[in-house]
Amino acid sequence: MKKYICEIPSNLFEIFLVELNGYGVEILNKDENITVFAIYDYDKDAINNIFEDLGSGRIVLEEDIKEEDWEEKWKENFKPIEIPPFIVIPEWEIYQGNDLIPIKLKIAMAFGTGLHPSTQIILSLIPKYISQGDKVIDIGCGTGILSIASAKLGANVDAIDIEKQAVEECKVNSWENQVKVNCYQASIEDIKDSYNIVLSNLQMEIFDKYFDRLKDIFKKYWLISGIFKDEKDKILKMAENSGLEVVEMKSKPEEGKPDDLWYGFVIKHK
Ligand SMILES: C[S@@+](CC[C@H](N)C(=O)[O-])C[C@H]1O[C@@H](n2cnc3c(N)ncnc32)[C@H](O)[C@@H]1O
Repeated sequence: MKKYICEIPSNLFEIFLVELNGYGVEILNKDENITVFAIYDYDKDAINNIFEDLGSGRIVLEEDIKEEDWEEKWKENFKPIEIPPFIVIPEWEIYQGNDLIPIKLKIAMAFGTGLHPSTQIILSLIPKYISQGDKVIDIGCGTGILSIASAKLGANVDAIDIEKQAVEECKVNSWENQVKVNCYQASIEDIKDSYNIVLSNLQMEIFDKYFDRLKDIFKKYWLISGIFKDEKDKILKMAENSGLEVVEMKSKPEEGKPDDLWYGFVIKHK
């Protein structure tokens, strides 16, 4: 497996992550000028193309690493995360308590380990808006974390992602959690059905492109996440222009950066 150590001016880092479409990176060092990070097992040309588009950034080191080293690193970094009523735990742990609902995740390459504020926001909204028997679609399922949470509350869940790796992880993680989730590789254009609840932790550029399509898919609630800082106003405006009502808005800062807020929304038809 390849590990690419990269550097980019810090003001371009968030845009780089958006271009990477939610694929996880490991931040090694970050100051106000430069961010140094590692990407595992990704197409080198694709990384270089993004740097070229942004006009800055480069791969500074390329290493071959053993699969076991990656596993060890992941295990070291993965600690349980409580987002009541859920607790996200690594697959090798056994939850000993009774108060929380465990979501077990296997080693993840896909986005959705529960560490990111955008995942935590939407996960915390799920118990309030999803009920037993609801028909739910998780669009951009990554590891399947949101699908598993919904299925554990008794929902009937379809999960889609454009990335094959994510769909595989969603399948494995659902099985590991002993819940039924119908995971398949697809994009928003492929959705034929409508759903009581739509879950979508996606980048702003995807909402820009598909907002009108997505608003026609949900019947009861549409849970949105992945909205960063000023993008919040864009979502509020798009909801208003489409005659939708924002019933709840939630925010959470990026770790260690109180001003860098991520936003989530619950939207319904008026
Ligand atoms: C930010 S991650 C969210 C992962 C997980 N649901 C979570 O909340 O942590 C976004 C996911 O959306 C997927 N994605 C991006 N564009 C998509 C599209 N047009 N249709 C379906 N999935 C898409 C990406 O591959 C990525 O796995």
